[in-house]
Amino acid sequence: MILAPTHASITAAKDLLADGEVVVFPTETVYGLGANALRESAVRKIYALKARPATNPVIVHVADMLSLFELIASGARKELSLHLSKLEQFWPGPLTVVVPRAETVPDIVTAGKPSVGLRIPNHPVALELLKMCKFPLAAPSANRSNYISPTQAEHVEKQFKDKNLLILDGGTCEVGVESTVISLLTPTAPEILRPGGISAEQLSEALGVQVPVKPNAAKSNAAQVSPGLMPLHYAPGTKTTFLRDIDVSTLGDKRVGLVAFSRQRGALYPLNEVRVLSATGDLNEVAHGLFAALYELDQLGLDMILVDTCEERGLGMAIMNRLKRAVTA
Ligand code: TXA
Ligand code: MG
Repeated sequence: MILAPTHASITAAKDLLADGEVVVFPTETVYGLGANALRESAVRKIYALKARPATNPVIVHVADMLSLFELIASGARKELSLHLSKLEQFWPGPLTVVVPRAETVPDIVTAGKPSVGLRIPNHPVALELLKMCKFPLAAPSANRSNYISPTQAEHVEKQFKDKNLLILDGGTCEVGVESTVISLLTPTAPEILRPGGISAEQLSEALGVQVPVKPNAAKSNAAQVSPGLMPLHYAPGTKTTFLRDIDVSTLGDKRVGLVAFSRQRGALYPLNEVRVLSATGDLNEVAHGLFAALYELDQLGLDMILVDTCEERGLGMAIMNRLKRAVTA
């Protein structure tokens, strides 16, 4: 059930969460499937709903820095405080830090790891809900495992039709790709486990060290470090290919969709269904509309979806990271 975010509906969501149930809430990145992070039986429901492998840890969302600190192992707080003070400028926002976990965080949240992923989301509905709850919310993206993350309430409802979930409608997610996951487990050598809404360049500048992006699972065993980096994590059901890898003149009478990053690129390829994400190729607009365009084209029963490419810099790194996982051939 999709509900407009009023004081009454957010209170109803809080009551369900306090009872150990699962609700869907909007964030600035994508919609999250939330449960009380401190209650094992509640978090277990998230894994069941998503059919998520128990080896993939979930991110814990909090309302403020004080709550964030409480979820870090007490012995590690002091060592991390300098780093966190440099990263504080990105919160609330699309940044998740992986840090040693406090004892209060159950195994199921972290997939048994000694670390936990924490973030303060930048969405008024998420923040109001978190403040009301007074406990942190474990929340992966509100999609079934291996499908595109939802950036609109309707996408969530379609994927979980039979589940009668309470879905707080926060409109279309502003950022449109998931948060950047940065590991601070070796504080002197932070590394990006998943590129996202905050760029490697921004993080390097804030921390005063070059922050590398861990190479993806296709080339290494990074899947063990952060299973969200596994190939084909974001795949639509329709065969999906990079435009650059295809000779469009050989497509014959196939019904083909295109996700173009600029108006000019869209105009170059008069295919059956063209979605232009930005008039000018602005990567913020591309990220904002990307999953919705893939989602929409995937509903049309096309023979193939072609996707545009961009330089892997800044937000372009996150965009290309997701698309490499969406291409099926
Ligand atoms: O933007 C986002 O991060 C969204 C919204 C809802 O906040 N959430 C999200 O969650 O994308 P999910 O579960 O789809 O992806 C979480 C990512 C995965 O790649 C997971 O492996 C990584 O974060 N992660 C979480 N905890 C971790 C940990 N302790 N160590 C390493 N990676 C971790
Ligand atoms: Mg996800």
